[in-house]
Amino acid sequence: MRSTNLGIRGPEVGVIGLGAMGMSFAYDMASPRDEATSISVIHQALDLGMTLIDTADVYGPYTNEELVGRALAGRRDRAVIATKVGMESIDPTGGPGGSPLVRPNGRPEHVRASIDASLRRLGTDHVDLYQLHRVDPQVPIEETWGALAEAVAAGKARHLGLSEVSVEQIQRAQAVHPVTTVQSEFSLWTRDVQAEVLPYCREHGIGLLPYSPLGRGFLVGRFASFDELPQNDQRRRLPRFQQDNLRANLDIATKVREVADRIAATPAQVALAWLVAQGPHVVPIPGTKTPKYLADNARAADVRLSPADLADLDAIPAPAGARY
Ligand SMILES: NC(=O)c1ccc[n+]([C@@H]2O[C@H](COP(=O)([O-])OP(=O)(O)OC[C@H]3O[C@@H](n4cnc5c(N)ncnc54)[C@H](OP(=O)(O)O)[C@@H]3O)[C@@H](O)[C@H]2O)c1
Repeated sequence: MRSTNLGIRGPEVGVIGLGAMGMSFAYDMASPRDEATSISVIHQALDLGMTLIDTADVYGPYTNEELVGRALAGRRDRAVIATKVGMESIDPTGGPGGSPLVRPNGRPEHVRASIDASLRRLGTDHVDLYQLHRVDPQVPIEETWGALAEAVAAGKARHLGLSEVSVEQIQRAQAVHPVTTVQSEFSLWTRDVQAEVLPYCREHGIGLLPYSPLGRGFLVGRFASFDELPQNDQRRRLPRFQQDNLRANLDIATKVREVADRIAATPAQVALAWLVAQGPHVVPIPGTKTPKYLADNARAADVRLSPADLADLDAIPAPAGARY
């Protein structure tokens, strides 16, 4: 796979990465987990050059890093590990439908106490990218970010990243320690970052990691009605996946499919190629636990969208329903 750099400071990575969250968390939690297949998907990603592997301490909660760690045993040097801190599980089954209840915790002592646990679960002595999962509204970002910077000073993290932030928050963090990446939801149906965050990152050499780049599976046509969503699945709580909105949004998936058919690609490849076309600093992290989807997503790196394709995709209307 072609490679790029995570902004001007960050390491070289494949132009498309892999999100590991869904292997342990958020989606289809009533089905048994197939850990062996998930590990094989991570190995497949590395073999195909998708070297950026994204996880978070709270995914699982706390089991996704272990899974990634087991997958990377003996392969650590081939991966660029990105994990996150700053959310905590307050009740493993206390959320809707028995899901984990999590909340932001940006207190410096929480951040300080978290890095060693992440390293232990990941089976490594450093992470390549340590990201603040969410800004805690109760704690000034400078204090939280300063605690993340201590992990860099201690050699436990190489670079720092933010997630779901405004330009003002990026600037406040940068005044304390360089920001290597910003992770935000960004896809054909979630384009808020195009207004300010994307251009700011481009101008300041910051890598942008679009999360949920396939619209949590919607953009690739996985779901035609609410009833098709698995039980105990986070998408059942998201406004865009409620029946009326989902029905109204089907046109969006149809438009992605039309472009895909025209260029003999798949909808996933079109959705990812559109993100890759936003600039060399943009590295999407599609999530999958399915070998054939991983292979499909990797091939998106070779899909070139013409100006007419890009114009058609840019013209896709805003979806019905908020993203959260
Ligand atoms: N910073 C944050 O707050 C935040 C929030 C959410 C996610 N993330 C990160 O972003 C990553 C990706 O986001 P996401 O998992 O929410 O959404 P996504 O990548 O947009 O979509 C994942 C869904 O699409 C399916 N899929 C993947 N490739 C496919 C293909 N080629 N064809 C058909 N279906 C395909 C997956 O199926 P299977 O799983 O069944 O294979 C899964 O249901 C996560 O793993 C996580 O690392 C970060």
